[in-house]
Amino acid sequence: MRAPFIVGNWKMHKTVTESLDYVTAFLPQIAEMRDCDIAVAPVFTALASVAAAASGTALQVFAQDVAAEGPSGAFTGEVAAEMLKEAGCRGAIVGHSERRRNYGETDAIVAAKARRALDAGLLPIACLGETLAERESGAALEVVERQLGAIAGALTEADARRIVLAYEPVWAIGTGRAATPDVAQAMHRHIRSIWEAAFGATAAAELRILYGGSVTAENVADFTSLPDVDGALVGGASLSPAGFAQLIRRSRE
Ligand code: 13P
Repeated sequence: MRAPFIVGNWKMHKTVTESLDYVTAFLPQIAEMRDCDIAVAPVFTALASVAAAASGTALQVFAQDVAAEGPSGAFTGEVAAEMLKEAGCRGAIVGHSERRRNYGETDAIVAAKARRALDAGLLPIACLGETLAERESGAALEVVERQLGAIAGALTEADARRIVLAYEPVWAIGTGRAATPDVAQAMHRHIRSIWEAAFGATAAAELRILYGGSVTAENVADFTSLPDVDGALVGGASLSPAGFAQLIRRSRE
């Protein structure tokens, strides 16, 4: 019932030219993959060109962030959800841990960003996840609950049936140390049960929860085969078109 969803977060990699070269190489490799939603999230400057190149194909384009304000105003350096939509984006990642940690994004800001994205007709992928210290102190569930509570508080039931969530434990991002399938499944199950309590059984059953953190072509199926994991948010392993296409193929095996 939940369409699998694999998203490549390119982070601060690839110029416009490099992004377009990627898409040219990538599109033929995913042409036959119809049973999975596929997206990439390039840097802001490449969004419009990548979206134009991907137009009419199965490749969706996401921004890596979105302003908490909009549709326009005196917010230097920010990009509004409506502007991303016009540039051809299907959605935007919000609350990535790198933004929470390096740019001071609070739960309230992340919730406001998810709200703005939904209001502009974009699909938010809202990221959640605990740090290593939080996990080691036994606070992982509580931290994710708090992050999730802020997002849930900004949503209607209809929104709750559209948004995508991504569990990305901070200690697994870029470390080569992915969560174990048991840890991922337990957290995803917990997230779905919180969704059920907040929005009901249907919204919980429809909710797509992606796992992120050192996902590779070798381990992706360990996650996507889990009952409550509906796809992956992939950093490093999405940067090569052949490698990412292989990862997507493996996720379906
Ligand atoms: P890596 O796949 O490089 O660990 O990054 C995960 C991530 O942060 C995706 O948003």
